[in-house]
Amino acid sequence: MIVYKSPREIDVMREAGRVARLALDAACAMVRPGVSTAEIDAEVERVIRAHGATPEFKGYHGYPASTCISVNDQVVHGIPGTRRLKDGDVVGIDVGARLKGYVGDNAATVCVGKVGEKARLLVDTTRECLERAVRECVPGRRLSDIGRAVQAHAEARGFSLVREYAGHGIGTRMHEDPQVPNYVDDATLRRDLVLREGLCIAIEPMLNAGRADVYTLDDDWTVVTKDGSLSAHWEDTVAVTKDGPVVLTRA
Ligand code: MF3
Ligand code: CO
Repeated sequence: MIVYKSPREIDVMREAGRVARLALDAACAMVRPGVSTAEIDAEVERVIRAHGATPEFKGYHGYPASTCISVNDQVVHGIPGTRRLKDGDVVGIDVGARLKGYVGDNAATVCVGKVGEKARLLVDTTRECLERAVRECVPGRRLSDIGRAVQAHAEARGFSLVREYAGHGIGTRMHEDPQVPNYVDDATLRRDLVLREGLCIAIEPMLNAGRADVYTLDDDWTVVTKDGSLSAHWEDTVAVTKDGPVVLTRA
C-alpha cells in the first residue's frame, strides 16, 4: 500500500532529510587515510542526535550502527568498525535519520586521496544516475521511467547494475511501498505505477565496475561484489510534487 504525503507532511520530511544530509556531509568530511569507519559512525550519530533526531538504521532488523559504510568491493550495508580507510579507497556512506516521526535516507560515495580513472568514472556515473532518476520524479511519469533513466546511463558507461536491492517508498517508515528498481524488465513493468503528487521515495542506484552479481558476507549484512570489482552507491529522498521533484535530503 502506497501512502501519499500531504504538503505539510512533506515539509516535516524535509526537516528529517535535512538532518540526514547534515550527518552525511559530516561523515564525508571525515574521510581521509587513517580514519576508522567506527569513528565516522560515532560522529554521524552525534550529529543526528544533536539535531533532536534518531539514527534510523540503529536497531533496524538488529543492525548495530547508525551508518552503513561500504568500502571498495562492498556494495551496501557495510558495518562500521576498526577498519581504517586508506589512500585509493572508494567509500560508500549511507545515513538515515528520524525526526518528528518521519525518515530521511541518503548516501554518497567518496574517494580517499587518489583513485584510479575507472573508480572515479564509476563514482561519478552512479551520482549522475541518481540525478537523472530524480528528474523523472514528475506527476504523470512512471516508476519505470526512473529505472530506465538509471539503467540507460549506467550501461552506456559500461557499468553493471545491482538487481538484488532497490530504492523504496519512505515516510513514517524507512521502507514503504513501492519498491523503486534501478532497471526495467518484464517483472518491473508489470508492477509499474504512474507517479502522483505526494509520492515520497528513496532512489538509490548501486553500480559495479565488473559483473552485477553480489553476495552477503557471514556478518549477514555486508553485500559485496562476487568478482571483487568496485561498487558505488548514491541515494536521495525525493518527493513528487506538482512543481516537480523536491529532493528532501538536499532542501
Ligand atoms: N539506505 C539503506 C536502505 O534504504 C539503509 C538500510 S541499512 C539498515 O535500505 F541497516 F538500516 F537496514
Ligand atoms: Co534507502
